[in-house]
Amino acid sequence: MTETPPFQQLLTMTDLLVPAAVRAAATLGIADHIAAGATTAAEIAHRAGSAPDVTGTLLRYLVEIKILETGPGGEYALTPLGDPLRSDHPQSVRQVLRNDGMIGSITLSLLRLDHTVRTGRPGYAAEFGRDYWDAVNTDPAFAAEWREQGEAADQLDKQVLRWDAGKIISEYDWSGVDSFIDVGGHLGSLTMALVRAHPHLHGTLLDLQNVSAEAGRRFARSDVAERVTAVQGSFFDPLPTGKDVYLLSAILADWSDDEAVLILKRCREAAGATGKVLVADIAMPVSGPGSELQLRSMMPAPTRTAEDIERLGAEAGLRVSWRGPATAVRTLIEFTAH
Ligand SMILES: C[S@@+](CC[C@H](N)C(=O)[O-])C[C@H]1O[C@@H](n2cnc3c(N)ncnc32)[C@H](O)[C@@H]1O
Repeated sequence: MTETPPFQQLLTMTDLLVPAAVRAAATLGIADHIAAGATTAAEIAHRAGSAPDVTGTLLRYLVEIKILETGPGGEYALTPLGDPLRSDHPQSVRQVLRNDGMIGSITLSLLRLDHTVRTGRPGYAAEFGRDYWDAVNTDPAFAAEWREQGEAADQLDKQVLRWDAGKIISEYDWSGVDSFIDVGGHLGSLTMALVRAHPHLHGTLLDLQNVSAEAGRRFARSDVAERVTAVQGSFFDPLPTGKDVYLLSAILADWSDDEAVLILKRCREAAGATGKVLVADIAMPVSGPGSELQLRSMMPAPTRTAEDIERLGAEAGLRVSWRGPATAVRTLIEFTAH
């Protein structure tokens, strides 16, 4: 038997057709349309709002790769392999494969790995023209997805916080603190967990447009509505002053050293002489060059150590006033301006 020539092996290795076709199916909701009773190319294209001729070609290709099958009358049906593309499947992968979804779109950063390797910067901006957090926060197309995430987060809040975030609540001495601001606080799970665990605390969450709006809705319907507030703002701009603690949880990994120093400086300026800056950053587990490339395509600094964070703090004019217990994935360091 003749071995496949290397050039052919390379072309096979790098073929984008299968991922592109499955992602197109996920993006257009093909599996949902079939599950809802559309079984011809025309019906599926009508529901998907797509071009009927190419939709037909896509459907025939999905049959070839065993995502779909056809019945006796040529009607399309999902195979067991295609089933998890349904939005309501218990192990649904639709959201992570949608090119236009919050999670699905960031994976496309990998297509611009050349840009990441050349510049050290995430690939998202090179592909989409602006950085990821800016896109998902300012584009109204993502507002519905944030709302769904907010509702899903309401269900998950009784569970343990991820990435050792519980350490922020249990290891830091919150007894002398009245107010804190959760800078880049996302959907507010940590803000609410903090005030629930420490009933004397008052929390403000600051984040960009879509997220802060959704966090505000979550706060309003929560049991701690009186003690939490969401505000819209950027941590690259001057921050609200006068809080006792400026908390940065899982923020700096998304930014280069220069940007991280600017964020820390903004916290230092707002904290003034009496406030504290509490950095609880994450270090992502890396299992080899492949996983590191995947992370680097999305964020500039996925694996900073406590020493790295302390160096950035010093550059921002901050001094370490307390070192919390670091875990494999989480550092916990309190800084003070003087
Ligand atoms: C990785 S999440 C961290 C969320 C949260 N602090 C936690 O511990 O899970 C990063 C957050 O930073 C927010 N963010 C990104 N750019 C921002 C900016 N310029 N100003 C404020 N928040 C920003 C994002 O919207 C997102 O909610």
